[in-house]
Amino acid sequence: MSTSILVVDDERAIQDTLAWCLRTDGHEVRTAGSGEEALAIMADQGFDLIISDIVMPGLSGVDLLRKARALQPRTPVVLITAFATVETAVEALREGASDYVMKPLKFDDLRHRVQGLLGHRPAFRESALPHHSVECGVPDRGLLGGSAAMLAVRAQVAKIGPAASNVLITGESGTGKELVARAIHAASPRRGQPFVPINCGAIPESLLESELFGHMKGAFTSAVQASPGLFAAADPGTVFLDEIGEMPVHMQVKLLRVIEEKQVWAVGSTKPLRIDIRVIASTNRDLDKEVEAGRFRGDLFYRLNVVHIALPPLREHREDIPLLADHFIREFNLKLGRQVQGIDRDALRALIAYPWKGNVRELEHVIESAMILSDCEILTVGDLPRCVVGESVPRNDSLRELNRQSEREHIMTVLAQTQFDKREAARILGISLASLYRKLGERRISAPPLQN
Ligand SMILES: Nc1ncnc2c1ncn2[C@@H]1O[C@H](COP(=O)(O)OP(=O)(O)OP(=O)(O)O)[C@@H](O)[C@H]1O
Ligand SMILES: [Mg+2]
Repeated sequence: MSTSILVVDDERAIQDTLAWCLRTDGHEVRTAGSGEEALAIMADQGFDLIISDIVMPGLSGVDLLRKARALQPRTPVVLITAFATVETAVEALREGASDYVMKPLKFDDLRHRVQGLLGHRPAFRESALPHHSVECGVPDRGLLGGSAAMLAVRAQVAKIGPAASNVLITGESGTGKELVARAIHAASPRRGQPFVPINCGAIPESLLESELFGHMKGAFTSAVQASPGLFAAADPGTVFLDEIGEMPVHMQVKLLRVIEEKQVWAVGSTKPLRIDIRVIASTNRDLDKEVEAGRFRGDLFYRLNVVHIALPPLREHREDIPLLADHFIREFNLKLGRQVQGIDRDALRALIAYPWKGNVRELEHVIESAMILSDCEILTVGDLPRCVVGESVPRNDSLRELNRQSEREHIMTVLAQTQFDKREAARILGISLASLYRKLGERRISAPPLQN
């Protein structure tokens, strides 16, 4: 999904050049010559970002900021300021402006900020209506994603978190099953209580019962001390039974009994212990099929599957990749003591095109390895593992495309240097004014179609 940006400036030349620059980056751009015009446009269209000059006749950029925040409260606003109005711009940050840029505009700088701002917000468009129901629920503990698929998951988490029901989370490996389980716990009244993840596939079958339900001293040869078990340790919190599909059938029977009777029998004990826990289970298998095949008990399946959350594989919500990549960059900046600012366009394209069989976890690993390999502030295609680049975009830019890109960069720089004096820019570039106009126009034609 491309992003939509509203550019507001009373100077036509700045409107045009900014629009041109942003369109060639793949954004949809609308322009307005005044704050009043901008508000009229905003009344019937939502934007992902607004870039506005401060000093304009009529409504100033700061007035526009205030009104825009009432109309589309989560749309970031970037102000363009001359040296003389820097203080106004800084004050505007307090009123909710997301950023400001100085004239003369430096396009690479602007592009970075735009990318940063668009990356930090959910990738769905602010609708023309002021409210969106999903965002203002309970905190969902780092469960990111603004795609329709992830918004649906987040809405489910917010809704069933407070309920008492057991939950079954399914999804391919690395899709965030544990994260979702934690988010549900955090959204529940048990949030201050233990959250105990148990990897059912990792505990040897012979130990599973005593690990889960505890044992008395002397219950078996190695039981030199009594142990309460993980279920009792979770009481009165949440048990997360990861990889429930790996649980042996005879243990499934015992688990069912614990869930139904709300009490555990420690191995070797003659008295049950009452417990109050919520059970969240997860699997990357198709439990329906496992039940059919007789490998998973139907009665336990129905007990666990009171609410079902199916997590989408990452390739089905690729629009969340920029946001997730950015999130992992920040995380590894902290962990590795780095100051990586972001990821360049080609590398991001490669990430978006890759099939991600290991889902979000694989993306996390790719970003980590790129950050370990790279010495630069911006991650590039060269920092990505070969499999990622190879499977997605064999760099197929023709020389002509490369020339076009560098030509564009140079034109932008010169225009900025000359404060958008196109005549002067054409002189420096050594081309006629007409051909400069043509070059600016050409790009607009090849840009995505506009809605207006
Ligand atoms: N929507 C998301 N937002 C932010 N981080 C995410 C998201 N989904 C997954 N992650 C991160 O990806 C990694 C893998 O997630 P998690 O361990 O929850 O997946 P899983 O489905 O349990 O994987 P596995 O099947 O391998 O156990 C974690 O570091 C998690 O924080
Ligand atoms: Mg897991």
